[in-house]
Amino acid sequence: MSRQISSSLLRPGMRLGRTLYDEHGRVLLSKGVEIREGFIDKIQKDFAVVYIDDEVTEGIEIKEAVPMELRLQTQSMLRTQWELWKNNATLDKVSIDRHLAKSMRDQMKNLLSIIQGTTILQEDLSSVATYDNQTYVHSINVAIYSMIIGVSMGLTENMLVDLGLGAILHDIGKIWVPVDVLNKPGKLTADEYEVIKKHADMGHEVLVKQHELSYLVAHCAYQHHERLNGSGYPRGLVGDEIHLFGKIIAVADVYDAMVMHRPYRRGMLPSEVMEYLYSRVETEYDLNIVALFSKKVSMYPIGTEVKLSDGRTAIIKDTNPNFPGRPIVRIIQNERGEATAHEEVNLIDHLYLTIVNAHDGAIMDFFID
Ligand SMILES: [Fe+2]
Repeated sequence: MSRQISSSLLRPGMRLGRTLYDEHGRVLLSKGVEIREGFIDKIQKDFAVVYIDDEVTEGIEIKEAVPMELRLQTQSMLRTQWELWKNNATLDKVSIDRHLAKSMRDQMKNLLSIIQGTTILQEDLSSVATYDNQTYVHSINVAIYSMIIGVSMGLTENMLVDLGLGAILHDIGKIWVPVDVLNKPGKLTADEYEVIKKHADMGHEVLVKQHELSYLVAHCAYQHHERLNGSGYPRGLVGDEIHLFGKIIAVADVYDAMVMHRPYRRGMLPSEVMEYLYSRVETEYDLNIVALFSKKVSMYPIGTEVKLSDGRTAIIKDTNPNFPGRPIVRIIQNERGEATAHEEVNLIDHLYLTIVNAHDGAIMDFFID
């Protein structure tokens, strides 16, 4: 039973509602631990959001859609490989051995079987992102979202596994982008942007030579920044010149980049990102893919704090599967910001009420490379 808060709101005495893991998957602080003054700096440095347990969260259960153990295994496999290549391999020397290709394929099958059993994704998958693991968390999330879309399109298992592999490796070319450009805070110059853009070509160049992987996997790296109207890169492909997998990963990638929490900054709510994507369907993104995806992920993850149109503050308690935009909420503050009795409101029964914003910490000035 817990709710998500911005880590900047952590205070001594609060109780942790979900275990925090470090970048290597080791337990940093366990669920249930009382926060002490000394923990706060470290947590705030690594995490933008945390879950806490308190009296207002009673009965609110965060559903873990993807088991943490599976996520951590995948993350550590990616990290080992990434670091090996980064330190030892030039672009033309990279090779994926048969053993690794098989473990990645098995891992995608494991993720797929979980996705196939999920009606609607309720978990905020980016809440585990830290400064050090966000590359891996992003790659895994893009694979999960891409396979969710692929499953609702009825793709075969073989195709879904290739889609997952293509998605988890889509940004692999970034290994060969200079770190100072990749991690530059603030706006990039036109020249730096050109350098970043090379990651799509480089990813393709590396993956197309890997005989253990399908040709389609390499095309995911090549095409994930292409846009329907030709405004994308590297080749400015148009419409159906872009492979279905490229179109799917484009949506999954942008979605995760925008909802992703980064240190000191919360991500946008799924509902806000869906609005963004819908405003660009047919020009940049495929309408059918965005529509299918918006039915499979919860617009308002359970445990998130929201503001209602009458000024009250509430926490998302549960979703109405057929009406993802109208969840069941628990009011925690009145319009004057005073704590209230925990009244529950099903937004299906109160159509005059809407959710007007996510949380004060939401920052909209993202950039997507
Ligand atoms: Fe990319």
